[in-house]
Amino acid sequence: MDIFEIAKKMVVKGKGILAADESTGTMEKRLKSVNVECTEENRLNFRETLFSSNSMKTSISGVILFDETLRQTSSSGITIPELIQKNGSIPGIKVDKGAKLLAGSDNEKVTEGLDGLRERMEEYYKLGARFAKWRAVYSISSKHPSEQCIKTNAHALARYAAIVQNAKMVPIVEPEVLMDGNHNIDKCYDITSKVLDECYKELALHNVNLKGTVLKPNMILPGSDCKQKVTSEEIAKKTLDCLKKNVPSEVPGIAFLSGGQGEIEATKNLNEINKINDTSFHFTFSYGRALQQSALKTWAKSMKDTIKVQKTFDHRAKMNSASTEAKWNEKLEQSFTA
Ligand code: 13P
Repeated sequence: MDIFEIAKKMVVKGKGILAADESTGTMEKRLKSVNVECTEENRLNFRETLFSSNSMKTSISGVILFDETLRQTSSSGITIPELIQKNGSIPGIKVDKGAKLLAGSDNEKVTEGLDGLRERMEEYYKLGARFAKWRAVYSISSKHPSEQCIKTNAHALARYAAIVQNAKMVPIVEPEVLMDGNHNIDKCYDITSKVLDECYKELALHNVNLKGTVLKPNMILPGSDCKQKVTSEEIAKKTLDCLKKNVPSEVPGIAFLSGGQGEIEATKNLNEINKINDTSFHFTFSYGRALQQSALKTWAKSMKDTIKVQKTFDHRAKMNSASTEAKWNEKLEQSFTA
C-alpha cells in the first residue's frame, strides 16, 4: 500500500483510530486511577485484550502504539503489530519524545524528537508500523499561545511529517489546542484557526504531500473551567467552519482527539459534525481516553473476564463507528448490556 491508500484506509467511513500510545508515565497515571500496578505485563495484558476484540475488524482502522508495545509479543506468540494486522487494522507508532519546556518562552511547550527520527522510522517500518503520530500542545490563556510557540511547533510538525513520508509512512499531524482554562468557545475557534493556518504554511514549505496525511485536531469547545453552556450542534457548526477555513481540501481525513471530553460527549459531537458535513473530508475519531475509559474500569475489576472487557470496548467502538456515519443516537447508546 502506498501512503495515499494507507491514509484513505485510516479514515474510511465506519471506522476510526484507537490511540493506545500512552507513554509509560501516562499509562502509570491511567492504571493508578483504577488501582492497578503499572507493570509491563499489565500494560500488555490490557492492550492485548483490546487489540483482540471483535470491533477491531468492524470499527477500528488503525491503532497508535507506544514504542514498547510495538516490540511486544502477544500471548498467542505473534507480535502485537501482527495481531493488529491479523484483525484487519493498521499498526501505527507515536514517534515524538514528548512536549518539553520551550526555551525563551513563558512556560510554553515544544514537542521534541526530530534527532535520529529518520533512522527510527526505518526500524518502525520493519517492525510493521505504517503510520506515525506527533502531538504538539498549545495552552490558552490571556497571553498564550505565543507566536513563538505556534511557529516552533508548526515547524517541528512539518519536519516530522516530511521525514515520515520519506519513510513511506503516513504522518498524523496533531496540533492539540488544550481544553484547560476558562476561555470561551470563540477563543478556542480563534486560536485553533491560527494554529492550523501556521501548520499548513509549514507543511507546504516542507513539501509534504497532504493527500498522504491525516489531521488530528481538537474540536472547537469552551475551556473545561468555562461556565458557558454550548450544545453539540453549536460545537459541530464551529468545528466544521474552522476546519473548512483552515484545512486544505487535499487532506483526505480528519480524525479528532477526545482531549478530556467524556465518552458519550465525544461520540455525540462527532455524530453532529458528520450530520452537517458538506465537505470532502472524512471525519472520524482517533480517541484515547474516550475509547478506553469504560473498558479500563471493567478490566481493573474483572481482569480474568476477557469477554466482559471486550464487550465494553466493542460497545464504545461501535458507537463511535456509528458517529462517523451520523448514525449514532441515544437509543443505540442505551442498547448496551455487559
Ligand atoms: P485523547 O483522545 O485521550 O485526547 O488522546 C488522543 C491522543 O492520542 C492524544 O495525543
